[in-house]
Amino acid sequence: MSIHISARPGEIAKTVLLAGDPLRAKYIAEKYLQDFTLVSSTRNAFYFTGAYKGKVITVGASGMGCPSIGIYSYELFTEYEADTIIRIGTCGAYTSELKVFDLINTDMAASESTFAKYAWGIEGDLIPHQGKAYEMINETAAGLSMQLRQCNIHSSDIFYRKDPNIPAVATANNCLAVEMEAFALFANAKHLGKTAATLLTVSDVIPTHEKISADQRETALLPMMELALEAAIRI
Ligand code: HPA
Repeated sequence: MSIHISARPGEIAKTVLLAGDPLRAKYIAEKYLQDFTLVSSTRNAFYFTGAYKGKVITVGASGMGCPSIGIYSYELFTEYEADTIIRIGTCGAYTSELKVFDLINTDMAASESTFAKYAWGIEGDLIPHQGKAYEMINETAAGLSMQLRQCNIHSSDIFYRKDPNIPAVATANNCLAVEMEAFALFANAKHLGKTAATLLTVSDVIPTHEKISADQRETALLPMMELALEAAIRI
């Protein structure tokens, strides 16, 4: 047991899919995993371990923001010896070149967050995905004939802000979309020599205010979940 996850040793798989929302983790387990068990529900951050096409996988919740995913991913990597974490989440597009439902495989995450510097002495505002999961996701998408965009994204600490302009760290690093977690996940993986990727579905296009509607949400994320699972079994 770690501080924030109450699974017993051996109950977390080597490959973990992390969604922000615990109910999304539950949905994935119920829809896709065979013989799954709830292995942690501390703070209602559910973790389920089960089999996808015969391979044992854990799916759980990261919460929102760098501090939260920083805690969960660190404990998964160090206390439970997870090797690979694939974050699956949503993002806001900074450009109307992207459309709602588009899938993004994150090349590098840029942030004004101090997480990497103060946690691990990692300087700079840009951290790449770590290890081979990113390539495996690209190859899997190609094999499934799924459209997948590779680009840098902004991991923001802020959801609501006064200034409507795209933040400087995002323009300076050519970030096409914004989410709130990849930077800390990549920082932990870099420090620990582990593997981490972030797969995102565009849920809103900021300049046009286009959004996935409430009734589209149920199905909008299915291609991303399926791609993450198919990539996970190849890692
Ligand atoms: N900002 C941050 N994270 C997000 C957004 C956003 O606009 N949309 C989806 N995740």
